[in-house]
Amino acid sequence: MAEYEPTTEWRRGAWVVSTDREKLQIDVVHGYLTRSYWAPGIAREKVQRSMDASSCFGVYEAATGRQVGFARAITDFETFAWIGDVFVLEEARGQGLATWLMEVILAHPRLQGLRRWVLATRDAHGLYRKVGFRAVEKPEEYMERRPMRRISSGNSG
Ligand SMILES: CC(C)(COP(=O)(O)OP(=O)(O)OC[C@H]1O[C@@H](n2cnc3c(N)ncnc32)[C@H](O)[C@@H]1OP(=O)(O)O)[C@@H](O)C(=O)NCCC(=O)NCCS
Repeated sequence: MAEYEPTTEWRRGAWVVSTDREKLQIDVVHGYLTRSYWAPGIAREKVQRSMDASSCFGVYEAATGRQVGFARAITDFETFAWIGDVFVLEEARGQGLATWLMEVILAHPRLQGLRRWVLATRDAHGLYRKVGFRAVEKPEEYMERRPMRRISSGNSG
């Protein structure tokens, strides 16, 4: 998969967005996802395998290389992409990084001409609206299957 996907980097002030797989810090990505509302307790190996099979974007502090954000596109690179596991660590929030990360993903040369971009969110609709996402126009045309859904945990996502 990596050879299918040339590395690309974008710099803005003190921050870098990169698709370089070597830069991805599994401790940071797993560390956040395991305490996220949508994947609490997710196994590190599961996170690693999902990253291996996706087009991954990391956000880094340029000076230190420390990873502060992440998102991945689950995609065939031609017709469809699902955006998932989007986060910016607490200490780096509120400075436009998630908006920029989404702009970079949507502008990525390997992800042009898709028929549809899809994602799900509990409360960050405003973020995605800023980059062109809208509520599903015809929800009656969408279906989903959730074999892993936990009924009694009280968690969503
Ligand atoms: C959501 C998240 C990625 C935003 O990161 P960020 O870098 O602080 O976002 P930005 O600075 O680019 O600002 C996001 C914009 O979306 C808006 N927004 C809407 N819903 C939001 C939400 N739930 N959280 C943060 N911002 C939200 C903000 O008000 C802001 O708009 P503004 O620039 O007009 O003020 C970050 O808060 C986060 O990691 N949250 C926990 C994980 C999460 O919910 N991820 C999304 C899963 S779908």
